[in-house]
Amino acid sequence: DGDVFKFYSEGEWKNSSSGKSVSIINPTTRKTQYKVQACTQEEVNKAIENAKSAQKLWAKTPLWKRAELLHKAAAILKEHKAPIAECLVKEIAKPAKDAVTEVVRSGDLVSYCAEEGVRILGEGKFLVSDSFPGNERTKYCLTSKIPLGVVLAIPPFNYPVNLAVSKIAPALIAGNSLVLKPPTQGAVAALHMVHCFHLAGFPKSLISCVTGKGSEIGDFLTMHPGVNCISFTGGDTGIAISKKAGMIPLQMELGGKDACIVLEDADLDLVAANIVKGGFSYSGQRCTAVKVVLVMESIADAIVEKVKAKVAKLTVGPPEDDCDITPVVSESSANFIEGLVMDAKQKGATFCQEYKREGYLIWPLLLDNVRPDMRIAWEEPFGPVLPVIRISSVEEGIHHCNASNFGLQGCVFTRDINKAMLISDAMETGTVQINSAPARGPDHFPFQGLKDSGIGSQGITNSINMMTKIKSTVINLP
Ligand code: G3P
Repeated sequence: DGDVFKFYSEGEWKNSSSGKSVSIINPTTRKTQYKVQACTQEEVNKAIENAKSAQKLWAKTPLWKRAELLHKAAAILKEHKAPIAECLVKEIAKPAKDAVTEVVRSGDLVSYCAEEGVRILGEGKFLVSDSFPGNERTKYCLTSKIPLGVVLAIPPFNYPVNLAVSKIAPALIAGNSLVLKPPTQGAVAALHMVHCFHLAGFPKSLISCVTGKGSEIGDFLTMHPGVNCISFTGGDTGIAISKKAGMIPLQMELGGKDACIVLEDADLDLVAANIVKGGFSYSGQRCTAVKVVLVMESIADAIVEKVKAKVAKLTVGPPEDDCDITPVVSESSANFIEGLVMDAKQKGATFCQEYKREGYLIWPLLLDNVRPDMRIAWEEPFGPVLPVIRISSVEEGIHHCNASNFGLQGCVFTRDINKAMLISDAMETGTVQINSAPARGPDHFPFQGLKDSGIGSQGITNSINMMTKIKSTVINLP
């Protein structure tokens, strides 16, 4: 309706002095749904500078009080699940039910984080000196975990709320302040989420949310000397950020090409159900989506048939109707997916369904007999298109998985737990799921990628630890 959503800084909702805005295109209607402020570098600078001073006081706020505020924010977030979910439906075409789940999951994450934080941060270490050669028992070392300072959080479009709070909550419980730069698609959902933190009554400037174009404020944010930690989830931009950022801890999750290796003795119905769920949930726009199926030749026909039958039942359409397959996030994304499909077609892949696209809506597609010379064997479509590569040995499957420059997650299906463990050890990925599709959650599990999939480890406990530093005090006895 022409209204531009305000950004959040110094505990207030503000219009940018730029007078400019950024449009958010609804992927379903392909029309402008919302507009957000195009913040200036000066406004970003102010948010970071204020975050710096707010953090000093916050770090002195008792841990139980910090936890109490987070619990309050979690409750408010859950109360507001309907309007926030509606934004997710309009901005990123997330199916209505999944959009609500994302907000509820986020509230749970914030609460869990508060609980975990009081335990982890409530404990330090006590060391004595005489365990190291040459020392008497004259030195006592006390350690505790102290905050880093200002944390910059940059979540991606696919979970603008959940992957924002997975950075915000650990940062805040650990005594840091936080500056959020939401993705453009999803920015309004993120602003609503930040409003819940505002309502909970956090001190002003402790959390701020700046919106705008990456080209205008992206580098300025990530290279700002006032930022003490960056937690980023997204694509290649993360690699560029890691090269430009200063000497500060980085937490990065940058996508994957999660392989699903299927052995001959697998439960075929379980496999088919997980391939469909893993490959096509949120139209494949998850870093942990199954992105290549590596199936033993002898059972490949059976698997492909079962998956085909399930794909035929997927509903395709608008997110408001809670369809399984909804429009992908942008035109460029749809074009990229189409490019991968056309490349596979030209190189002779078997199309299990007819390729169909309307606007940003792409019908689910299973590509059989994909070979390593096709782009889709290696690239991440981030769409409802899933390649199947037939393998003649388990080693071939492991080799394909490990030849990828990604290493986020992978999964293996077999009834033989010994084989599964050996394959898990051989797969160069941050996590291997045995007999289930890859997934980040439950959100307290460690979550990490090898190689180009990222640095550091996430999950509630790891994020809290990552956003702190050890401080020691040594008592020297005479
Ligand atoms: O794509 C982001 C990644 O964190 C996936 O999360 O919960 O869909 O496995 P999830």
